[in-house]
Amino acid sequence: MPAVEAIQLTRTFGPKIAVDHLDLAVDEGEFYGFLGPNGAGKSTTIKMLVGLLRPTAGQARIAGIDMWQQPLQAKQLIGVLPEGLALYERLTAREFVRFVGVMYGLSTEDAARRTDELLDLMDLDADADKLIVDYSQGMRKKTALAAAIIHAPRVLFLDEPFEGVDAISGRAIRNVLQRLRARGATIFFSSHILEVVERLCTRIGVITQGRLVAQGTMAELRTLAQTGEHGTLEEIFLRTVGATEEGLLEEGGRRLSWLE
Ligand SMILES: Nc1ncnc2c1ncn2[C@@H]1O[C@H](COP(=O)(O)OP(=O)(O)OP(=O)(O)O)[C@@H](O)[C@H]1O
Ligand SMILES: [Mg+2]
Repeated sequence: MPAVEAIQLTRTFGPKIAVDHLDLAVDEGEFYGFLGPNGAGKSTTIKMLVGLLRPTAGQARIAGIDMWQQPLQAKQLIGVLPEGLALYERLTAREFVRFVGVMYGLSTEDAARRTDELLDLMDLDADADKLIVDYSQGMRKKTALAAAIIHAPRVLFLDEPFEGVDAISGRAIRNVLQRLRARGATIFFSSHILEVVERLCTRIGVITQGRLVAQGTMAELRTLAQTGEHGTLEEIFLRTVGATEEGLLEEGGRRLSWLE
């Protein structure tokens, strides 16, 4: 049974089809990278999979449990770093992460201990007692990530976890994700940082205009995109997306008259 499954998952906003009959299955223990250009439908897909945005049609399942029929059971299995980082700005990071831990059913002591360890790992310990409202963007992201993993979820969804995060914290986050995976967790994440995706992921899906246009391991994607055995993910991405987003690769054809 797949850890994450989308069946004909669809979301429209007025006339716009943001996610278009998407079929997707991620096995337990996979590290799945979800790629696509801006506006492709990545965040919309993730929000439907985690129960934050109701699908127009289709199904979202976590370990076989329907997210929209049995949301409580399904949500217990997941951790989410959402696009908008839903944080309580009037709490300190330490208060917030502890609170989330207790909400997931940890004892007060466990929640406090795990919070301290996580904040230390994210290099937030010096600022942990400051209000989140006064945090920088990267500090907020690290706080949200700590909250997303405090209950050691079976499936972790991350929307752009490395955006706006410095190199040291980026490495700390990568290490945490690797450790979660070593314990058998499934990780589903979107990112525009292709080197990181290439390095971490066991399988990659490429979405554009709400449809999955390519999926596979790096080796499979290289074959699909015909980039040769040393093709980078960037080359694969540009080819795959370029094939459907007409003109994307023809940079030479577009000019900015005022920059000539
Ligand atoms: N609440 C909304 N109302 C109207 N349109 C929306 C809404 N949310 C998303 N869309 C539209 O759906 C499409 C997909 O958006 P989405 O945020 O899923 O893209 P994305 O792949 O996450 O892009 P990015 O890489 O920029 O984060 C876009 O055309 C966007 O304008
Ligand atoms: Mg997005």
